[in-house]
Amino acid sequence: MGENDMAREQWKSEMGFLLAAVGSAIGLGNIWRFSYMAYEHGGGAFLIPYLTALLTAGVPLLILEYAIGHERIGSAPLAYAKISRRWEWLGWWPVCFVMFGIILYYSVVIAWCLDYFFYSFSLAWGADPNDFFFNRFLRISKSPADLGEIRTPILFALIFVWFITWWVVYRGVQHGIELANKILMPTLLLLTTILVCWSLTLDGAWTGIKAYVSPDFSKLSDPKVWIDAYSQIFFTLSLAFGIMIAYASYLPDRTNITRNALLTAFINCGYSLFAGVGVFAVLGFMATAEGKPLAEVVSKSIGLAFVAYPKALSLMPGGNLFGAVFFLCLVVAGLSSAVSIVEAFVSAVVDKFGTSRKPLVSLVSVLGFLGSVIFASRAGLLWLDIVDHFLTHYGLVIVGIIECVVIGWMFDLPMLRRHINRISSIRLGKYWDYLIKGFVPLALMIIILGDLYQDFSQPYGGYSWTALILIGRDWLLLNLALAVFLASRPWKTENHRQPGRGFTP
Ligand code: ALA
Repeated sequence: MGENDMAREQWKSEMGFLLAAVGSAIGLGNIWRFSYMAYEHGGGAFLIPYLTALLTAGVPLLILEYAIGHERIGSAPLAYAKISRRWEWLGWWPVCFVMFGIILYYSVVIAWCLDYFFYSFSLAWGADPNDFFFNRFLRISKSPADLGEIRTPILFALIFVWFITWWVVYRGVQHGIELANKILMPTLLLLTTILVCWSLTLDGAWTGIKAYVSPDFSKLSDPKVWIDAYSQIFFTLSLAFGIMIAYASYLPDRTNITRNALLTAFINCGYSLFAGVGVFAVLGFMATAEGKPLAEVVSKSIGLAFVAYPKALSLMPGGNLFGAVFFLCLVVAGLSSAVSIVEAFVSAVVDKFGTSRKPLVSLVSVLGFLGSVIFASRAGLLWLDIVDHFLTHYGLVIVGIIECVVIGWMFDLPMLRRHINRISSIRLGKYWDYLIKGFVPLALMIIILGDLYQDFSQPYGGYSWTALILIGRDWLLLNLALAVFLASRPWKTENHRQPGRGFTP
C-alpha cells in the first residue's frame, strides 16, 4: 500500500485553498501581458471580449476542473483514470508538459525579474535599457541553434527560484503551499497597491490611463482580438494545466465549488485590470517626459517589462525604489504560480505510484532546475518564445477541447452538476452543460484553427521551420509520449478504485 492510500492531505481552510488557487492564477502574465493586450486591442473596448471569454469559457471550465478534482478526489491523471482508464493519458499530458515545459522557462523569467529587482537599486541598465536587456544581460544569440554559454546572473537567480519552489512544495499542502500563499498573496496586493497609487501621482499618468481605458470599438470586428482574449483567459486562470484539478482534490467533502470558482476568476481578472492602471500610468509618464506619443513608448510583452519600464524608471524620481517594488511583484506573482505547477505533477505521481512525497519533490525540483538551464543560455529567449507558443497556443487549448468532450459527452455531466449543486451556494442550470458540451470546445477549436492558419501562412516569429518543429512541436509530442507511457504503467496504489463523492450506485 502506498502512502497515498492513507488519508489525502487537505487544505486547512477554504480560504487557504482560495488563496492558493488565486496564487496559481495570478502570475507573470497578469502584470504585463494583459496590459499590453488591452492596449493593443482597443483599450476599454477589450474588456468586452475579455469579460465575454471569462464568463463563457473561463468560469465554466474552472468550475468543471474544480468539480472533477473534488468529485473524483484526485490529481488530473487519477481523476481521468476514475472516469475511464482510457483517458488517463489526458491527465498526464498537461502535468507533463507544464512540468517539463512551461515551468522550465517560466522559472527563468522569474529569475530575470529577480536580477532586475537588484539592478533597480542602481538603475543598472543605464541610458539604453534595450541594449542592456538584449545585448548585455541576455547576450542574445542570433539563432536557437547557437546556444552559447549559460548566463551566470540568470543561473544564480534560477538557483534561488528553484530553491524557494522546492522548499514550499516540500513542506506539503498545508504547511508549504497554503502557508506560502497566505503570506505571498496579501504581500502582492499590498505591493501592487503601493505601485498603483504611486504611479497615479506621476506627471502624465492620466494620459496613459486614458489610452488604457478609452474604448476603440472598431477593433472588436477583428477576430484576432477575440482569439487573444480567449487564449489569455485560458492561461491566466491556469486552465488545462492540471493544477486546478489537483488543488480541488485537497478540499474537504463540503465545499463551495461555484463560489470559489467565481472568486478565483474575478480576483484574478480584477488584479489584471488593477495592475494595468499602474503599468499605463507609468507609460503615460514616460510619454510625457519624452514628449512622444504613447504608442511609441508601448512595447510588446517582454519588452514592456524589461525595456519600456526600466526606461521609465530611469526618468522617475525614486525610480530605483519603484523598480524594486515592481520587479518584486513579478517575482512574488511568478513564484506562487511556479509552486502550483510543481504540485500538479508531484500529486499526480504520488496518486498513481504512491511515491514518497518529499524525495519526489526534491528529485523533480532538481530535474526542473537542470531543464531550465537551457533557457538561461544565450539562445534562451528564442527557445522560450518557441516552446511557449506551442505549449500555450496548442497544448493547453487541445487539452481544454478534449477535456470538454470527454467530460461533456462520455461522462455523466448531469451527475457532476448535481454534485456541484448539492454543495455550492450558487446553483448551476442546464446552460452550464451546453457551455461545456458545445460552446467552449467550439470556441477553443476556432482559436486553434486561427492559430494554425497564422502559423502556416508564415512561420511563427520568423524562426526556421526546423527550429519550430524540433523545439516547439516535438517538445509537445515528446511529452505526449511520456504521458502515454506513464498512463500505461500499472497502478501502485488503490486510489483509482475508490468511488467519487457524487457517485450514487
Ligand atoms: N496563470 C499563471 C499566469 O498567468 C500561469 O502566469
